Amino acid sequence: MASPDGNHRHPETNGEAKPPAPKKQKLSTSITDSEIQSEFSHHDASVARINNGSFGSCPQSIISAQQRWQLRFLRQPDSFYFNDLKAGILESREFIRSLINADDVSEVSIVDNATTAAAVVLQQIAWGFTEGRFQKGDVAVMLHYAYGAVKKSMEAYVTRAGGRVVEVQLPFPVSSKEEIITEFRRALERGKENGQRIRLAVIDHVTSMPSVVIPVKELVKICREEDVDQVFVDAAHGIGCVDVDVKEIGADFYTSNLHKWFFSPPSVAFLYCRRSAKLSDLHHPVVSHEYGNGLAIESAWIGTRDYSAQLVVPSVLEFVNRFEGGIEGIKKRNHEQVVRMGEMLAKSWGTQLGCPPDMCSSMVMIGLPWCLGITSERDTLKLRVHLRDRFAVEVPIYYRAPKEGEVDPVTGYARISHQVYNKVEDYERFRDAINKLVGDKFTCASLSA
Ligand SMILES: Cc1ncc(COP(=O)(O)O)c(C=O)c1O
Repeated sequence: MASPDGNHRHPETNGEAKPPAPKKQKLSTSITDSEIQSEFSHHDASVARINNGSFGSCPQSIISAQQRWQLRFLRQPDSFYFNDLKAGILESREFIRSLINADDVSEVSIVDNATTAAAVVLQQIAWGFTEGRFQKGDVAVMLHYAYGAVKKSMEAYVTRAGGRVVEVQLPFPVSSKEEIITEFRRALERGKENGQRIRLAVIDHVTSMPSVVIPVKELVKICREEDVDQVFVDAAHGIGCVDVDVKEIGADFYTSNLHKWFFSPPSVAFLYCRRSAKLSDLHHPVVSHEYGNGLAIESAWIGTRDYSAQLVVPSVLEFVNRFEGGIEGIKKRNHEQVVRMGEMLAKSWGTQLGCPPDMCSSMVMIGLPWCLGITSERDTLKLRVHLRDRFAVEVPIYYRAPKEGEVDPVTGYARISHQVYNKVEDYERFRDAINKLVGDKFTCASLSA
């Protein structure tokens, strides 16, 4: 392989180096409340930020670690490129491998975000059509609640190449994982209706809007029984938010952002690709010098850019290990507290959660009072802006169309998140804001476009 202007060979491709084993988890005394506040002191203190789900959060110590990497590059770029960059990324990949229980570091690639990971997976599906391995009309299945950007990628890569996309219609509110399993089976049947093959199933681990934990292990198993060619789990919210054991889940591909619930700077994600001859034709959509050297190596150099977010993974692990129980402890406490806060809000507003607590992650959907008059997606955006501007509450809102005949239907659901920096007062401010709007007989119709 040739480097930007040299003939450096990647240590992994020429077999010179082995990835270093992750250091043992440090069992230090737990981080204190004031240290947590100081780690997130760059957050705008005037805002009740109960939306970790959208963009995540990054503590001061990681921002500093990232700046040190950036300076190492800027100080002597050539030396950094030839001596440090690839070894650093390999070390990050090994940490991720160990976190997600993958067999081999070659199964773990680091990419910018879940959107890029989806492009890697869907691009090779498109090639299946254009190179004649798939028949026109062969199917890709995805959830109706798949993330908007992933839906667009399906349009760009699958539909455009001649595939048919079948959506799994999921109920919301949802009361059990069996409802999801039933709908998933139905969609697979629809996919096979005309004797066509299902080439791919895209399954979210935690849907974005509305947010629900999907029984991925069960759905992957069904895919295997039903002879679905490939299964891709979109777990943009995965690591730090739900349990991630890629062997237990059993999908061919699994991606998770690290910048959402794993305290990494924007942006960094991993894409796990199970080792298999069938899945060897995987490439980064940005082609550079490493093309053909395997996805993980290709992804570690996609041209000159800032790779610092990929290099801080070991520092992030050090950060999470300052908390009792490490990332597992953080995840468990976030889940318990967000459910507690969700129940407090639902009780105050006389509404319900969008799903049972065991189907919530570190995010919970809560019904908003019907009298707010939420009648469209546009209304949810207007209300969100109003909550930000008037009450300094940052929270996304979901529109659910009413079913025929429903009386006083709950048409708006707020998605609250909990992360280590949140306080009960953040949720109380949201509670009081909605109660004030209800008391003032506010409706969304009163907000200008
Ligand atoms: C389920 C899901 N998939 C994909 C994405 C895209 O993530 P990113 O913007 O980091 O690529 C998101 C973002 O929220 C998401 O929730």
